[in-house]
Amino acid sequence: MVLLAIESSCDETSAAVMVNGELKSNIISTQLIHTEWGGVVPELASREHQKAIIPVVQEALQKANINKNDLNAIAFTRGPGLLGALLVGTSFAKALALSLNIPLIEVNHMQAHVLAHFIEDPKPTFPFLCLTVSGGHTQLVWVTSPLQMEVIGETQDDAVGEAFDKTAKLIGLPYPGGPLIDKLAKEGNPDKFPFSLGEMPGLNFSFSGIKTAILYFLQKETQKNPNFIEENKADICASVQKTLIDMLLRKVKKAMKEKQCNQIAIAGGVSANSGLRTRLQELGAELGWEVFIPAFQYCTDNAGMIAMAGHFKYEAGEFTDQDVAPLARYSL
Ligand code: KG4
Ligand code: ZN
Repeated sequence: MVLLAIESSCDETSAAVMVNGELKSNIISTQLIHTEWGGVVPELASREHQKAIIPVVQEALQKANINKNDLNAIAFTRGPGLLGALLVGTSFAKALALSLNIPLIEVNHMQAHVLAHFIEDPKPTFPFLCLTVSGGHTQLVWVTSPLQMEVIGETQDDAVGEAFDKTAKLIGLPYPGGPLIDKLAKEGNPDKFPFSLGEMPGLNFSFSGIKTAILYFLQKETQKNPNFIEENKADICASVQKTLIDMLLRKVKKAMKEKQCNQIAIAGGVSANSGLRTRLQELGAELGWEVFIPAFQYCTDNAGMIAMAGHFKYEAGEFTDQDVAPLARYSL
């Protein structure tokens, strides 16, 4: 079964080819245009997807050594994401499927982040817990089978990726700031500036309080010393990163206990964070968990994960009609 997958939910245009569940190519074109605006501009994202989609799909087919006439199905991200951006991938997938007379498979982007764990070994066994952390979501997902998953805790306001990106903006780093905070944090002291973890009942998260706390802290310190941020950049990054990781791991521990589970996976863009990866490994070693961390290229947005989800849906016979429309909001 030869499957083409397309991802266009935010600022990555990506296409992948999967043959019988094995990933043959995964081409990712990241839009650089947003850096100068300090965040993703939806209309610009749509236009960039339009420019990139044909060359990206062609490259994915070429790299996999597949002719478009060999394709058996096309999977695409239906949502959640930016509507205009999703529309480009959705329309392209629909048109190509129609012209080749092959089935279409719609994929939920958040489900695909979790299923990225099945692209390569080692793979978790069911059931397991997945912490999905991205620029738009922060979720604890209880996964009972490839296509059955339930959100058992999530953020009530900002996503953790937003907390990384907004902190980066406050200290003068370009968008997306998450990877830059990660890099600077390696040279800083994580205990230099302690921040409160806040209170949030149950398995839910909240990141708006910490964002405000960081803003006030920086304003106060900069009033005393105008060079405060420049002189303490690495320590600020390390301290903020540690706090955000503490907030995540506190709920992971609670959920693992409630579910009496010993397999934890992380997914989404923020799972590329080296601090989170290390701390989760350490916690897992201490508490006897098996920890699953995807390779970097499958953490941030990519069509490989859409192909993996599409493969499971193909096996389950879950296809969609030509009248399918993208969804900006799409729960699991
Ligand atoms: O999953 P993703 O690529 O896109 C969404 O679906 O949102 O996640 C993007 C988010 C951004 O907030 C970015 O700053 C964050 O993931 N991110 C990181 C790292 N790499 C990407 N955050 C912290 N440390 C990283 N190394
Ligand atoms: Zn994503």
